[in-house]
Amino acid sequence: MKMNVEIKEGLEGIIACKTSISRVDIEDGKAVLEYRGYNIHDLARYSTYEETAYLLLFGELPTKKELKAFEEELKDLRDLPAQIIGLLTHLPPFTHPMVVLRTAISYLGSMDKEKHFMDYEHSIQKAKSLIAKIPTIIAYFHRIRTGQNLVHPNPDLGHAENFLYMLKGEVPDRIEARALDVDLILHADHELNASTFAARIAASTLADMYACVVAATGTLMGPLHGGAAQKVIEMLREIAVPWRAEEYVLKKLERKERIMGFGHRIYRNVMDPRTIELRNLAKKLAKMKDSKWFEIAEEVAKAVYKHKGLLPNVDFYSACVYACLGIPDDLFIPIFAMGRIAGWTAHIIEQYVNNRLIRPRALYIGEKGKKYIPLRERG
Ligand SMILES: CC(C)(COP(=O)(O)OP(=O)(O)OC[C@H]1O[C@@H](n2cnc3c(N)ncnc32)[C@H](O)[C@@H]1OP(=O)(O)O)[C@@H](O)C(=O)NCCC(=O)NCCS
Repeated sequence: MKMNVEIKEGLEGIIACKTSISRVDIEDGKAVLEYRGYNIHDLARYSTYEETAYLLLFGELPTKKELKAFEEELKDLRDLPAQIIGLLTHLPPFTHPMVVLRTAISYLGSMDKEKHFMDYEHSIQKAKSLIAKIPTIIAYFHRIRTGQNLVHPNPDLGHAENFLYMLKGEVPDRIEARALDVDLILHADHELNASTFAARIAASTLADMYACVVAATGTLMGPLHGGAAQKVIEMLREIAVPWRAEEYVLKKLERKERIMGFGHRIYRNVMDPRTIELRNLAKKLAKMKDSKWFEIAEEVAKAVYKHKGLLPNVDFYSACVYACLGIPDDLFIPIFAMGRIAGWTAHIIEQYVNNRLIRPRALYIGEKGKKYIPLRERG
């Protein structure tokens, strides 16, 4: 390979595939995010997670009848096989819930005799099953590790509401249920983010859907991606009071450390539209529940902008939302996965339908043509 090839580190700005699932653009100095052509602000205001998942999977908004049928199907698929519950009880209680989720999804794959059927109908069925079961996996593991009885899915409750019910053992109020519902909508897809790309790479080898979702789940966990949400709440806890925020930020920047929940590959100098919605949500919950996290977060955001010119990303205010909902810190990333599963599966299906193996090249920069010396002569 010629040495003058241009390498885009981190594949920045590289268009790696075509998609009709979501669009991220900067238009007239403002960021735009659309799912299947629908603006994220409208979806956050008017849609539900179930409707948004339908939109991502099928490409169109459902009719009332279609949505009802889809909601019922998801409810019917919420229960976990006994073997998965067995797995959740056997995993060490200190296992990170993202590792639990990854392992349980892999186990679900081992139990699906039709896992290698990649036609559209089978793929949609697997997608629905994963969307329905992921909340149950997360909630059940949390109940098991904290020595509490399992709270089984309640078919009278919607997707977000039922998750909070299974997690905490009581039906959430309307504000809490809607807050999580909106959060899941906002996390449902985001073009070719790292975990979705990982899922599409796996899909391009014609790996089964569970394998692709395991690849995505592992990728989401990293602190530069979904892992940032957990790091944000850890940071807010460490700061503890709003007046210490600026000092904390300055120290971090002096040490050249990254401040979690800030910066984005695409939204460089423009606000991520999801952050706008999540900030509004966090502000509303702060007024109604607990204002502490939002107050510290606002001071951190001011200081990071003042001293580094960086804007908060999707993980920053979602951490405040989850904290106000009383969700344990290490469930923040699994909840991101709970939303993103709709986008992952839609992208996996899109990749299967129009597939070409994703196999880029690397510029070799190591030594060449070295003479092999047998071990006995190497001393
Ligand atoms: C998201 C992220 C990985 C994007 O990275 P990227 O596109 O590769 O951006 P770069 O690493 O090129 O950063 C550009 C500059 O901003 C700085 N920067 C970016 N994010 C930063 C952060 N969170 N804290 C401090 N500085 C940051 C870099 O140090 C670099 O500064 P320099 O030019 O003075 O060296 C990065 O912003 C980050 O690490 N954020 C924190 C983790 C996070 O919140 N992830 C969730 C993303 S939704």
